Order: sequence, then structure tokens, then C-alpha cells
Amino acid sequence: MIMFQPHVYATVFILSILQAFALDSYIAAVYEHSVILPNVTGRPVSSEEALTLMNKNMGVLEGAIKAAAQQGAHIIVTPEDGIYGWVFKRDTIFPYLEDIPDPQVNWIPCTDPERFAPAAVQERLSCMARNNSIYVVANIGDKKPCNSSDPKCPSNGHYQYNTNVVFDSKGKLVARYHKYNLFMSETQFDSPKEPEIVTFNTSFGKFGIFTCFDILFHDPAVTLVSKLHVDTVLFPTAWMNVLPHLTAIEFHSAWAMGMGVNLLAADTHNTSLAMTGNLLFGIIIPLCVLMF
Ligand SMILES: *[C@@H]1O[C@H](CO)[C@@H](O)[C@H](O)[C@H]1NC(C)=O
Ligand SMILES: *[C@@H]1O[C@H](CO)[C@@H](O)[C@H](O)[C@H]1NC(C)=O
Ligand SMILES: *[C@@H]1O[C@H](CO)[C@@H](O)[C@H](O)[C@H]1NC(C)=O
Ligand SMILES: *[C@@H]1O[C@H](CO)[C@@H](O)[C@H](O)[C@H]1NC(C)=O
Ligand SMILES: *[C@@H]1O[C@H](CO)[C@@H](O)[C@H](O)[C@H]1NC(C)=O
Repeated sequence: MIMFQPHVYATVFILSILQAFALDSYIAAVYEHSVILPNVTGRPVSSEEALTLMNKNMGVLEGAIKAAAQQGAHIIVTPEDGIYGWVFKRDTIFPYLEDIPDPQVNWIPCTDPERFAPAAVQERLSCMARNNSIYVVANIGDKKPCNSSDPKCPSNGHYQYNTNVVFDSKGKLVARYHKYNLFMSETQFDSPKEPEIVTFNTSFGKFGIFTCFDILFHDPAVTLVSKLHVDTVLFPTAWMNVLPHLTAIEFHSAWAMGMGVNLLAADTHNTSLAMTGNLLFGIIIPLCVLMF
């Protein structure tokens, strides 16, 4: 884990926003997690077995979250697939999914766990944020029921989404983002119908969020920066380094520099899949013209 203070960047417009609404610096943490993977069985496990595996991973993340909070971090980002891994089909991921409500419902799962139950994963993440007074960014799976009134409804009667969630330092769910640009092998998940533009405000800046492969596409990635003017992008990823142009550190730092934004990237750690490379990138060079 790396600790770092993103610098405020220096376009006059952005700076005045930061002076008006936010602290001019904050401490962020990203955690590169070696995911405890499920035993591949080819058959769906019970929801209890799924939760057991997810609790093992959340136990590891909890140590990182506590350590980050003790060092004064305001926010910690954990990786894509960091709670159950990536080796799934549609039916085998299903026991790992929870129904994640729209954050507009104004929900602290830690203090009100039954409201949208079953939600054991959201409850534990929320409590980790609340108990340690730190924003927690995690990647989990959402399921949304549908039926024959929707011709696109999948045969199991559920849309399944690769989802980033953010809990604030009181444990409240403040952001939910469904990954739009799924990687080729991600057949266990559906894309939302439209790209979602998800932002949230804090006392230390305005944040946007997307996931892994999304960074190679215009929406929602570029729109968050060029139209919504976020200060920082949160970026859970399971990035496989590919030479020459798609290694994590180089590509992600270039994206942040080109876009003129802080990028907090948390990668999974799996060297046999070339998944390594965390990044906290703060803009220190003023970029006055963003042509997007
Ligand atoms: C996988 O199976 C082995 C052997 O049964 C067991 O020891 C191990 O705990 C299992 N791992 C997980 C993550 O369930
Ligand atoms: C949070 O704190 C409460 C009360 O001390 C405790 O019961 C709970 O286990 C803690 N949960 C987490 C995830 O830290
Ligand atoms: C089918 O889905 C629609 C839209 O989600 C919902 O309004 C309706 O109640 C559902 N019908 C049944 C029979 O479940
Ligand atoms: C963040 O704050 C700005 C300025 O007050 C406001 O215009 C914007 O709607 C807020 N965004 C969110 C997601 O709350
Ligand atoms: C890395 O990922 C591969 C493929 O999913 C898996 O077989 C291997 O066990 C993982 N390595 C570790 C150390 O988890």
C-alpha cells in the first residue's frame, strides 16, 4: 500500500472550485490485493459458501483499511474482483451477488442491515468504513430482477453487474457504478443499457468512478472529467499488463496526465496473469486546455 497526498492542480477554474468546496489536499490509499480465489467447481456454490470466501477476502481488506485509516487516509480504493476473483460463468457468480440499491435511498448498511437484506457484504464494507472513519471503495456484484416484460431480460431473470460501491466515513452508501465496458471474457456480467456517470462530493473534493477496461473508452471516463469536472477518479481494476502500451503504471499515469485529473488505481495482484501495478497519480503540472 502506498500513501500519498494528491496535489491540487492549477487551472484557475478548478482551483476556485476546490477553494470553495474542499480541502486543498487529502490522503488517499490504494491496496493491491492478492485475491483468495474460489475453488473452481463448475457448479454454483451455496450462498453460504460464497459468503465464506468473500469474508476471507474482506478480512484481508479490513487489515488494509485499518492501516490506511491509522495513517490518516481519507479514502481507500480496493481492486476490481477483489472480494471473489474472476473465474466465473453467469450461474457460478450468482451466489456472490447482492441487490445493491440506488444510493439515493440514503442507507447505512452497518446500522440498518435488514433494510435491503440479504446484504452481508454491503454491511461489512459499510462497517469497515464507519468503524474506521474512512471512505471505502470496493468492487462487488449487483443483481437486478427482470421479467418477460423486458425482451432483453436474461434467462435467469436477473441482470448481473460488475459494480463499484463507495461507503462514506459514516458507512453510508454514496456511490454505485455498474461497469459499462466489460472485458471480453467477462461473460458472467451484463452491461447497463447506457453508460452511468457517477460522481459524489466530499469535503476533500469531487470524485468520479469507473472500472478497469472502461479507461480505454470515451464513456463514461472522459465525460466524468471533461463535463463533470471531477477532481479525482477512483479506479478499481484487474489490469493485465500488456507490452508495449498497456502496462498499468505507464498507461494509467499517462491517462491521468492527459486528462488533468488525480487517478487512484487499485489493481489485483496475480503475477501469473501479469496483474500488478497500483497508482496514486496527482497532477502537479497545470494543464490549461483539455480538448475533449
Ligand atoms: C479449496 O479446497 C481445499 C481442499 O478442499 C480447501 O482446503 C480450501 O480451503 C478451499 N479454498 C477455498 C477458498 O474455499
Ligand atoms: C464495527 O464495530 C462494531 C462495534 O464495535 C463491531 O461490533 C463490528 O464487528 C465492527 N465491524 C467491523 C467490520 O469493523
Ligand atoms: C415485471 O417487471 C416490471 C418492471 O420491473 C414490474 O413492474 C412488474 O411488476 C414485473 N411483473 C411481474 C409479474 O413480476
Ligand atoms: C457536488 O457539489 C456541486 C457544487 O455544490 C453541485 O453542483 C453538484 O451537484 C454536487 N454533486 C453531487 C453528486 O452531489
Ligand atoms: C492467479 O490467477 C490464476 C488464474 O485465475 C489462478 O489459477 C492462480 O491460482 C492465481 N494465483 C494466485 C497466487 O492466486
